[in-house]
Amino acid sequence: MENLALTEANEEDIDFLLEMWNDPRMMRYAGYPEGRCWSDADIRRWWQGYLAERRRSGNEEPQLILHLEDGTAIGESHYGPVPDGFEVGEWRKPEGVKCLMTDIKLLSRYWGRGIGTQGMRMIVELIFAKTSCELLVVPPHRDNPPAFRVYEKAGFLLTGIEAWQGYEMMELARERFNKLYR
Ligand SMILES: CC(C)(COP(=O)(O)OP(=O)(O)OC[C@H]1O[C@@H](n2cnc3c(N)ncnc32)[C@H](O)[C@@H]1OP(=O)(O)O)[C@@H](O)C(=O)NCCC(=O)NCCS
Repeated sequence: MENLALTEANEEDIDFLLEMWNDPRMMRYAGYPEGRCWSDADIRRWWQGYLAERRRSGNEEPQLILHLEDGTAIGESHYGPVPDGFEVGEWRKPEGVKCLMTDIKLLSRYWGRGIGTQGMRMIVELIFAKTSCELLVVPPHRDNPPAFRVYEKAGFLLTGIEAWQGYEMMELARERFNKLYR
């Protein structure tokens, strides 16, 4: 087990996010942000938009950074609300249920050492502790078995529902979280 820490992104993390989001191997099945080549100007624009949205929504959609004990940034995550009426493919957000969507991404040199699972469990704990989320969802791609496995090990259940083009929804309800993470 590593000594990992989760923090909210700040301006010093911009170069790290640029490195992550420009790594095609890392972003192949990641979905968010949209697959494209990021320039320095793009990411600075994104950062300004992120800060503005953060002020508007009261920080409902924080960008998180995963660090090693010595402070090295090795991964990131993001979570945000899924609104009522949201449907994608066969998946529909249950009406009136406070639902959030999240994910995890790690620099590829850290894959395969259990860090993704440990980090995902920390993200899940943070979300259920900091928000009134009742249902947390993640959308791994069918061709991305490590993501399915990490989410499964963090407690998410497969719905078997295709959300969009190869992405399936997995769900973790607060009740199940309370049982698993006690
Ligand atoms: C998904 C990701 C975070 C996993 O991180 P990681 O640190 O490698 O994960 P872990 O080492 O904790 O666990 C990986 C699991 O996947 C399994 N796995 C790896 N490759 C696999 C494959 N081809 N088929 C089946 N299982 C596989 C591993 O055996 C391990 O499971 P186990 O502990 O039961 O043996 C990492 O691959 C990543 O950042 N990918 C790019 C971003 C991404 O796609 N994120 C998901 C967006 S929805």
